[in-house]
Amino acid sequence: MNDPLPDLDGRSGIERLVNAFYGRVRSDDLLGFIFDDVAGVDWGVHLPKMYAFWETVLFRSGGYTGNPLAAHAKLAPLTAMGRPQFDRWLEVFRATVDDLFAGENAEHIKSCAADMANVIHLKINRIPDPRLDPANLTPEQRARYAAYKSTTR
Ligand code: HEM
Repeated sequence: MNDPLPDLDGRSGIERLVNAFYGRVRSDDLLGFIFDDVAGVDWGVHLPKMYAFWETVLFRSGGYTGNPLAAHAKLAPLTAMGRPQFDRWLEVFRATVDDLFAGENAEHIKSCAADMANVIHLKINRIPDPRLDPANLTPEQRARYAAYKSTTR
């Protein structure tokens, strides 16, 4: 039997995950060219940035202070950045995590990635969040909002 996989437990695990993930992304038919041709990513800069990003997400250290929304918003006018691209990104991310790690942090990073993919996708394509559409409010929410009086004005 194979040894059980370790959980993602710190910076060295994150570096292994990020390196393996972008190795796969670069040879992906739907995503690779976006990094190498459209954005012309400098991997010597991008990889350390992504180590810091995931270390910050998972362990609240790592010092990432960038703006992921802006980075992807820049790409949207240049190339397709729709649900198929985000779904593929997530599929590759989940498969990479599952090939290398197992445990609570491995589960957590996959769920963070899915949440952020959804937010980035909706924002950069200016798709309104369906949960905020007045047509989708429950009768209770509608009554509560109608009764609410702002105290700041
Ligand atoms: C369709 C899917 C995606 C594509 C094609 C994509 C592509 C890219 C590219 C090309 C860059 C580099 C931009 C630049 O340096 O000019 C970038 C940066 C980045 N991406 Fe993505 N990305 C995708 C999804 C995601 C998701 C789901 C996340 C988060 C879970 C993410 C997190 C980041 C972060 C943190 C940066 C660095 C932003 C900064 O400069 O601070 N990306 N992405």
